[in-house]
Amino acid sequence: MPQLAYVDGRIVPLAQARIPVEDRGLQFADALYEVAAVLNGRLLDWPQHLIRLRRGLAALFIELPISDAALTLQAKRLIAANGHADAIIYLQVSRGVARRDHGFPANSRASLIMTVRRFDFAQRIAQQRTGIAVITVNDMRWRRVDLKTTGLLANVMAKQDARAAGAFEAWLVGPDDIVREGSSTNAWIVKDDVLITHPLSESILAGIARAALLRLAAGAGMTIAERPFTLAEALAADEALLTSTTAPLLPVVTIDGCPIGSGRPGPIAARLAALVWGDIATQTGWQAPA
Ligand code: PDD
Repeated sequence: MPQLAYVDGRIVPLAQARIPVEDRGLQFADALYEVAAVLNGRLLDWPQHLIRLRRGLAALFIELPISDAALTLQAKRLIAANGHADAIIYLQVSRGVARRDHGFPANSRASLIMTVRRFDFAQRIAQQRTGIAVITVNDMRWRRVDLKTTGLLANVMAKQDARAAGAFEAWLVGPDDIVREGSSTNAWIVKDDVLITHPLSESILAGIARAALLRLAAGAGMTIAERPFTLAEALAADEALLTSTTAPLLPVVTIDGCPIGSGRPGPIAARLAALVWGDIATQTGWQAPA
């Protein structure tokens, strides 16, 4: 079955999906995106993704001429047409197509594209058992990374540094030595049974998986601190972990080659991972293959 994409109201074969050269997403990264998980054919935390998208659109004065209900219907149509039980859906809204000029065009219509890719969530369960490595790099991004714009070049360079170092992720560190987040994930540490993550601000993305983990950890009675932590603190932590839509919870066992805690996935990460996959099962009915 050919892969299918949604382009401004039409579902077309991915290989034939096109956008105009003067789309502002292409020329200025004047665009926002979302990535949501589909497990067992069902969307995970979809309302939260829509809320984040709407907030970003409002902040950038982009009007998306489609209701949440209609957008949801189109997303579900594309998911069903692609036919993958486990997948990620990518959605991008740009300010539209107009003659290249930095200021907003007088009459442009926001454009919407969506793609769906098969995704193997079970691989994350295997990685959870071994843990993953992260490296650190300077955070070179602009100051409004709470907006999920497609301007991701600093994230791209950071991820490539991680890959070149044989690591899963790069943590982005500010000039104050604060660990902000990963190139495509949120960052966490555990110290003395307290779960610590950077507070919401303009210098991190409000991850949907982050919000889910905060809710689940609070529900389980864990002590949580939403506060900045330094790289030195992370290196001295008992455990470290990361979260995202495509990596719901992974234990971090080394940072820049230094083992964290025992250097193996710790008990709190295991407990939190069980909560996260339990929530996914409740929402979608997804079960890890035995
Ligand atoms: N990345 N921080 C950054 C910089 C991100 O790009 C992402 C998501 C996250 C985690 O957010 P969420 O829990 O909503 O996935 C944090 C997506 C998956 C991506 O760019 O592919």
